[in-house]
Order: sequence, then C-alpha cells, then structure tokens
Amino acid sequence: MNNSLTGQVALVTGGTKGIGKAIVNKLLEAGAQVVVTARTVPQDSSGYHFIAADLVQATSAAAVASEILATYGRIDIIVNNAGANTSPSGGYSTLTDENWLHELQLNLLAAVRINKALLPTMLTQKSGVIINISTGAAVQPIWDITMAYSAAKAALNAYSKALASEVGPQGVRVNTVSPGAVKTPLMQEFIEQMAAAANSSVEEAFTTLMAKVGTVPLGRMAEPEEVADLVGFLVSAQAHYLTGSNFHVNGGALPVV
Ligand SMILES: NC(=O)c1ccc[n+]([C@@H]2O[C@H](COP(=O)([O-])OP(=O)(O)OC[C@H]3O[C@@H](n4cnc5c(N)ncnc54)[C@H](OP(=O)(O)O)[C@@H]3O)[C@@H](O)[C@H]2O)c1
Repeated sequence: MNNSLTGQVALVTGGTKGIGKAIVNKLLEAGAQVVVTARTVPQDSSGYHFIAADLVQATSAAAVASEILATYGRIDIIVNNAGANTSPSGGYSTLTDENWLHELQLNLLAAVRINKALLPTMLTQKSGVIINISTGAAVQPIWDITMAYSAAKAALNAYSKALASEVGPQGVRVNTVSPGAVKTPLMQEFIEQMAAAANSSVEEAFTTLMAKVGTVPLGRMAEPEEVADLVGFLVSAQAHYLTGSNFHVNGGALPVV
C-alpha cells in the first residue's frame, strides 16, 4: 500500500487504541493524512491530527467535521471505529433504558452523525470510502453478554447497506467490517469485568467467553493489525468494485455459510 493513499485525507474515530490505532498506522504507512478522534488525548499523537471528541454527544460529529473541512477542505476516507459493549451482563431484565440508549448512541448514531456531516463533501468530490466497524456479535448475539450491543451493531449493518445503495451511484463506497474476538484494551477490560461479575479468574472468564463465542477454527483471537489489513485493502483503489458488503474477519468463527 506504500504511498497509495498520498493526497487523501482520512478520519478514524477511536483511533488511539486497539483496532483503531492499528488502522491509523496502516493509513499513515499508505501516505494518507489521518485525523484521529477519541475522548482522551493520547500521550503520543505524532504523525496525525488529533481531535478530542466524545461521540456519544450529539453535537460532537458536526464539530469534528467542521475542523476537518476547515483544515483540509476535503475528506476521502471515514473509518467509524469508536464503539464498545458498555452494558452490564445479565440479559433483558438487567438492561435499563439508559443502557440501551448509550449502546445506540455509541455503536450506531456516532457513525450516522459523522457520515451525515461529511458525506456532502464526498458527494461533491464524487468520491469517498466509508468503513463502519461492526462485530460478529451483530449476527451472533450472546444473550447474557451482548444483547443491546449486538442490536445496535445489527442496526449499523442495516444502515450501512442502505447508505451504500444511496450513495454508490455518486461515487462513494460504504462497507462494514465485522471482527470476531480481537486482542485490544477493550477486550481485556471486558474479560476482567466478566471475571469480577462471576467472581472468577481472568483465565476462567476468558474460557467462558470463548465457549460462548464458539470454535475459532484458527484457534486464537485476532491481532488488531489483522483487522487493519482488511480495512487497508477496502479503502484502496484495488477494492473499487466493493460496496454494500459486510466483511467478517474472525478466524472462521461464525458457524454459518
Ligand atoms: N476488540 C474486539 O474483540 C472487537 C470485536 C468486534 C468488534 N469490535 C469493535 O471494534 C471497534 C474498536 O474496538 P477496540 O476493541 O479496538 O476498542 P478499544 O481498544 O477500547 O478502543 C476504542 C477506541 O474508541 C475510543 N472511544 C471509546 N468511546 C468513545 C466515545 N464515546 N467517543 C469517542 N471515542 C471513543 C477510545 O478512546 P477513549 O476511551 O479515549 O475515548 C479508543 O480510541 C469497536 O467499534 C468495537 O465494537 C471489537
């Protein structure tokens, strides 16, 4: 991908840790100018343009878009990566309205608002690529762990498909990337919370989680870079006929055809 994205401006939300950070590195290697958002200012933001933003707040997306357009005057790539399963385990009776609304704000509406604020520029350019980071749990919900998160990400999948149909004729491609279990700070925190809730060790919680996820034929969690490699391909010119699809990167984990 060396220099294949030179001259292009990319936004990666949640680009300071985990999968987002690996995607940022991939896009920088390919020569893009990269804008990164997160709530916390990172210790080292050299190489990219950092904007502090809590994307759960409805006004944040417009502020992020204004700063990008005022600085660069264009946007070529959007990776809506910020997201998380933030609700307590325990199924339907545990989930409050606040839990449901937070999952929808973070895992669906953050991407909807960022895209709405930046799409007019892509449409004027008659080019652009959007990647919405979803999860395998959108199609394989785990009732006691991911109910609201899975529902929000499933809505993200449906939205992405509809958006791809709407803006494809005007030169903008939209795809979804659905990782399985990936070794990130979020995953580590999640397993620790499971251990605390079950009063078990982190190792026991990890075994319980993997039993719920099911067999991973490749026998391990993904590295964030393995998700970033797929995103790097999807935003490149080699992927110019790919839109409206949901790409799973999960070591073979989903037990469906
Ligand atoms: N890890 C997995 O196994 C896995 C599996 C399937 C799908 N995914 C999806 O992949 C994406 C990235 O997950 P990850 O595991 O890499 O997460 P992570 O390690 O927790 O990193 C999340 C990033 O998003 C930012 N972020 C979190 N909440 C935010 C908010 N309200 N507003 C703005 N930024 C926010 C974080 O920075 P701050 O905390 O400083 O805001 C951080 O930069 C998510 O959409 C997740 O649902 C992950």
